[in-house]
Amino acid sequence: MSDTPPVIEIRNLHKAYGALEVIKGVDIAARRGDVVSLIGSSGSGKSTILRCANLLEDSQQGDILFKGEPVHWKGTGLARHPADPKQVLRIRTNLSMVFQQFNLWAHLTILQNVMEAPVTVLGRDRHEAEGAARKYLDKVGIGDKCDVYPAQLSGGQQQRAAIARALCMEPEALLFDEPTSALDPELEQEVIRVIKDLANEGRTMMIVTHDMRMAADVSDHVVFLHQGLIEEQGPPDSLFGAPKSERLQQFLSSTNPA
Ligand SMILES: Nc1ncnc2c1ncn2[C@@H]1O[C@H](COP(=O)(O)OP(=O)(O)O)[C@@H](O)[C@H]1O
Ligand SMILES: [Mg+2]
Repeated sequence: MSDTPPVIEIRNLHKAYGALEVIKGVDIAARRGDVVSLIGSSGSGKSTILRCANLLEDSQQGDILFKGEPVHWKGTGLARHPADPKQVLRIRTNLSMVFQQFNLWAHLTILQNVMEAPVTVLGRDRHEAEGAARKYLDKVGIGDKCDVYPAQLSGGQQQRAAIARALCMEPEALLFDEPTSALDPELEQEVIRVIKDLANEGRTMMIVTHDMRMAADVSDHVVFLHQGLIEEQGPPDSLFGAPKSERLQQFLSSTNPA
């Protein structure tokens, strides 16, 4: 066992929206180089966990640690919030998120989209950021699309631009929330290929996905959530090959093996 702390660690996380508790005590860790996938029915809490992990959402109980450093809180329960805005910014910029709907700026070119946060949030030199942005756009296979606007690209190309934008922050980990579910099946594959390349490079990633084949192919560890709790978890071979819980068996038989 490695003695370096996980890049992201969630301990006993609880999260409610008002009176509705949606995460009921969840532990998840991703060590450097780990790919952890979160699967489960719609509403089971997958997106909420990712959003809590990078502090886009508050949580009421439990710890969130970034490379062993616990998030500092003030207040308790529904009044609990991160205490240190600088820590939040540092953690969030190190856990770059890729969303289902890409969330590119429509009025900026692809190159500007990818350079924007490194320059404005991290204060990187514009020239260096541009070089990095071009490098990452090349890496995801759309280096020829620097000067076009998002609306001129296919969904698969837009999502690859969003991945380049996340990479350009040079984060410690990437968090993907259903990165392929807004895409037509033929465009899904080009995004899956990029995610596989990143996994093979040893990037640390947490991936929420409905694509069981991708989860099986890229993950070191798979977590099956049911109603805000971990129902079963393990390496993909055992989770997909020999699921123990009846709920997971049902879930897998109801999802298309693709
Ligand atoms: N902003 C919100 N306000 C109230 N309830 C929410 C909000 N976001 C999510 N929920 C509820 O939290 C639960 C978990 O949602 P979510 O994390 O989005 O699930 P998943 O990503 O697994 O589909 C669901 O019951 C959902 O309706
Ligand atoms: Mg979701």
